[in-house]
Formats: sequence, structure tokens, C-alpha cells
Amino acid sequence: MHEWIFCLLRQPRYINIMSDTKFDRKPTDKSTGGAPLLACYDDLTASCAYGWSMLERGVKDRKSAFHTPSIATISANGSPTMRTVVLRGCATAEKTLRFHTDTRSSKITELQKNPLAAMHFYDAGAKIQLRLAVRLEMLSGAAFDAAWEATRPMSRECYQVTQSPGSQISDPYEVTFNAALTDDGEAYFVPVAAHVLQMEWLYLAARGHRRALFDFEHDTQSWLVP
Ligand SMILES: Cc1cc2nc3c(=O)[nH]c(=O)nc-3n(C[C@H](O)[C@H](O)[C@H](O)COP(=O)(O)O)c2cc1C
Repeated sequence: MHEWIFCLLRQPRYINIMSDTKFDRKPTDKSTGGAPLLACYDDLTASCAYGWSMLERGVKDRKSAFHTPSIATISANGSPTMRTVVLRGCATAEKTLRFHTDTRSSKITELQKNPLAAMHFYDAGAKIQLRLAVRLEMLSGAAFDAAWEATRPMSRECYQVTQSPGSQISDPYEVTFNAALTDDGEAYFVPVAAHVLQMEWLYLAARGHRRALFDFEHDTQSWLVP
């Protein structure tokens, strides 16, 4: 069978699978309307900078979609597991993000075994997805102190729970909080740095999607087939 006939036969199946996500728009499709094309559309370096600017905004702007990324680690049985966290810090020059958590949580046990993790961000308005390969590090010393000082009383309460997060209880009212026992929560609070090793950029655009890989370890960047 000629290759083009084979392609024609395959195409409807492709559209059926992908049409839910509106990912299958062709470069000529004008149905998206909405947001104007970003200036970084055809510029690798500018796309990378735009990604970092979105991460910076994600820290400051609670309404930004990038404020609450997902982070995936590898669980004890070897399977991936993910959860939402609040993005608390972004040091673009150092290529490092930060989130806060409880030392007793599963993600801490997991990162101690394997510090390599993945973070996922998607801003539906901007139509931009970032997939980050990161190395996690529990912060101590001055970095710990600065993060704890900046933590609001309401956030501190989370760390004042006396039972380990994720432990089984027979009644939800069994959960107890004790500021004195937990040193106001500081005993179980931990800031975690996510050192970004790679950033994969995906920008959905009616004119044609743009996908790129930025490798900060090897200082390389490249466009990818979307
Ligand atoms: C919007 C949102 C924000 C969250 N932010 C955090 C956070 O900053 N740190 C955290 O440890 N858990 C946060 N959580 C809870 C986690 O998603 C998760 O349920 C919890 O940390 C337990 O994860 P683990 O057992 O995998 O460690 C958040 C959940 C939601 C829905």
C-alpha cells in the first residue's frame, strides 16, 4: 500500500484521539482566536526566558496557574506518585525553585531515596506547559531560617499537627494540633529546593505549536517536534 493511502487511513483515528485536547490544530486553523502570539514564538532563548518569567510570577501571583505545580517523585514500591504544592520561590539565575513541606511526609522519604523528580506546570490561558526535570534538596541553615521567617501563621499551623501526615485514622476529628510540642510547627517544617536540570517548553498556538528543550546542566537548547 502506498504510504499516502496509509496516512489517510490513519488520520481519522489520530483526530479522534487528540481532538478532545484541541492539540490537533493545523498551522492554518484560526479557531483559537484569543491571545495574541507571544513575541518569543520563534525565538529559543526568549522562550526560555519567558518560561522563567512565568515561574517568577507563579511565586508572587496566587491567581497564576503556575502558583500550584504538580511534583512527581518515585514511591517506595517504584511507581511514580505526584501531588500539588505551592511554588514559594524562584531564583532564575540559580535555576532553582522552592516549595515547603512537612518532614514527615512521603515526598521527603521519597526524595531522600531518590532526589530526582519532575514538576509540571500548565497555564491554560497562556497555553503554555512546562515540564521540569529537577533535583530536590532539603534546605537547612540560613536558607531554612529565611523560609521559616517568611511563613505566615496560617501556614505554620499545618506543621503543628501531631500525627504524621498520611497516617491512618479512624475518625477525622482525631487529628490534633499542638504548637508547643511542635515548636510552632518549625520542628516539622522544611523548605525544599528544586534545582532545575531541564525545562521542556510547549506553547500551543493556532499557527503551529512550539516545543523546545533547555538543558541547564549541559547548557544546550533545541527546538523539538511538538
Ligand atoms: C492547592 C494545593 C496546594 C498544596 N500545597 C502544598 C504544599 O505547598 N506543600 C505540601 O507539602 N503539600 C501541599 N499540598 C498537599 C499535597 O498535594 C499532598 O496532598 C500532601 O503534601 C501529601 O503528599 P505526600 O504524601 O505525597 O508527601 C497542596 C495541595 C493542594 C491541593
